[in-house]
Amino acid sequence: MSQQPETPTLAQDGHTSRRFFASFYERTSRSSGEKSFMNPLRKEVIDQARGLVLEIGAGNGLNFAFYDPDRVERVEATEPDSAMLGFARARAAKARVPVNLTQAPVEKLPFADESFDSAVVTLVFCSVGDPGRGLSEVRRVLKPGGSLLMVEHVRAHGAIAATMQNIITPFTKLLAGNCHWNRNTEKTVIEAGFQIEQRRDIGGFMMPGVILHVSKA
Ligand SMILES: C[S@@+](CC[C@H](N)C(=O)[O-])C[C@H]1O[C@@H](n2cnc3c(N)ncnc32)[C@H](O)[C@@H]1O
Repeated sequence: MSQQPETPTLAQDGHTSRRFFASFYERTSRSSGEKSFMNPLRKEVIDQARGLVLEIGAGNGLNFAFYDPDRVERVEATEPDSAMLGFARARAAKARVPVNLTQAPVEKLPFADESFDSAVVTLVFCSVGDPGRGLSEVRRVLKPGGSLLMVEHVRAHGAIAATMQNIITPFTKLLAGNCHWNRNTEKTVIEAGFQIEQRRDIGGFMMPGVILHVSKA
């Protein structure tokens, strides 16, 4: 990976065009290491999705292959970055369920209140500009009792690891598509009023993660 920081082209409505990051992500996601670590986590989360599903920050579309037509009727996939959307289109066309792609940030979802049975989010909230606002948008568009299904890397529990994350974060924001390595996403999810149904810790010292199944109470 080149060390050149990438300044995204920020457009109206929170749209971006991070071409360098999208190409890097596409290349990395074809590696066997990424697939063997992430694919079981993607499957675990997406197996819980039902009915009409909202996918947020779909990136290059790596989750699309996991949606099962026996459980999922349609996926409305949102992604604010035009370069990522370019890669996602090909994967949407090959999915086993209909996948509609829309360019939008999670802070401003172009959907009516109480539209979706499930929302899927994988590795997104570390990069979102305003996570609190994004999560309240997810709550707004989920039906009562709907599920938010997440895989996120999160803030380390230990003081030493969390301090190291704080030191690294300015660089990951610049080089990795605004990734805030040190973000306490689980806390923000609870503050947004979701109820935790299931959680599982994954990963380790500097990059702990969590799988969350939360519901709109
Ligand atoms: C690390 S990638 C993950 C992509 C995909 N979800 C996956 O699991 O491979 C992070 C994604 O979050 C998207 N993102 C950044 N800010 C966002 C926002 N405000 N709303 C929605 N998605 C956002 C980025 O454009 C990028 O596609």
